[in-house]
Amino acid sequence: MNYLKSLLAARSLPDVLETPDGRAATAAEWESRVRPYWRKQMLTHIYGQLPQVLTPTVTTEVNQIDFAGKATWETVHFTFEKDGKAHTVPAQMVTPKGEGPHPFFILLNFRPEVPDRYWPTEELIDAGYGVFGVCYQDVTADDGDFQSGLAGLFATEGERRPDEAGKLTYWAYMASRMMDYLLTRQEADPKRIGVIGHSRLGKTAQLAAALDERFAFACVNGSGTAGAALARGRDAAAESIRAICTRFPYWFAPNYYKYMDAPEALPLDQHCVAALIAPRRLLVGAAVEDLWADTSGQFLTCVAASPVWELYGKRGLVTPDALPSVGDVLGEGGVCFHLRAGKHYLSRTDWLSYLKTLSSIAENGKKE
Ligand code: GCU
Repeated sequence: MNYLKSLLAARSLPDVLETPDGRAATAAEWESRVRPYWRKQMLTHIYGQLPQVLTPTVTTEVNQIDFAGKATWETVHFTFEKDGKAHTVPAQMVTPKGEGPHPFFILLNFRPEVPDRYWPTEELIDAGYGVFGVCYQDVTADDGDFQSGLAGLFATEGERRPDEAGKLTYWAYMASRMMDYLLTRQEADPKRIGVIGHSRLGKTAQLAAALDERFAFACVNGSGTAGAALARGRDAAAESIRAICTRFPYWFAPNYYKYMDAPEALPLDQHCVAALIAPRRLLVGAAVEDLWADTSGQFLTCVAASPVWELYGKRGLVTPDALPSVGDVLGEGGVCFHLRAGKHYLSRTDWLSYLKTLSSIAENGKKE
């Protein structure tokens, strides 16, 4: 791996196994000391934290459409209440009929529709997967209004504290509440529930799985800056921390703005965020024409995070000693990466690649 190692060395990344208190040599040390350290750094300097977990009340209604009798479609309403204020978030649960329990995707989506252009509903049903989707703006609006939706129940009035949650943290929080609910449903296989999102919601899917160890896998699609792409040494065509904080300051904790022109001053880089998902499955998807999301930066995160999977005695990213080519699906390890043709999108090709990787993992799992 000399070539990839030299690319990583040129980025001067923090060592994912090391904190100021020393380097982890075992998975136990990683879990007790290094993992909590990166988690804290990540929340303090990039995404911000939420103070508490609220338990919503949940009601469900069954919709008439059943996809040719192959699935049940329910709308699940989550009502959150705090200090006399309430907010309800609708989510869409599509469960294959057939014998369960079923693996599930918790889908952070841009839109509430079922089916939807980002959600090939029937194909997923046919593959035996349930999908539990939510429209992110139903959680809290994608803007600087912190009194909107769920944020209105938690956020400080006026200026946010430097380490207070940005909107990505709110959307990730919703994915965990959806997980709470799925775990109460016998149709869902508790060991095979993952989270998927694209672009700003790819960043969110990675954050959700980094924070919540119940997610068995995360599909982090087209996530780019503050997602799977490394900040240090980014490609010149890729989005900088300055660009993202200028256009979308409310996605992040205000502390993140300090690094607009100094990614090297951040105590962590995105491989440390990705590594919080270990030893569970991390599946990163990139598109060759999506230069804004930094294809090689997303790939190198997968390489740089891999030592943590290795600590657990698993393989990280299984790759030749080269940057990926279009059409590659590197799906054999605990860290997976695919590079498809085309532009920024959560496409059918991405879904099929995730399905293929997840099913080969299931087969390998049986052989082990
Ligand atoms: C913008 C932003 C990206 C983000 C994308 C999206 O392009 O700069 O960081 O991923 O929007 O979410 O669609």
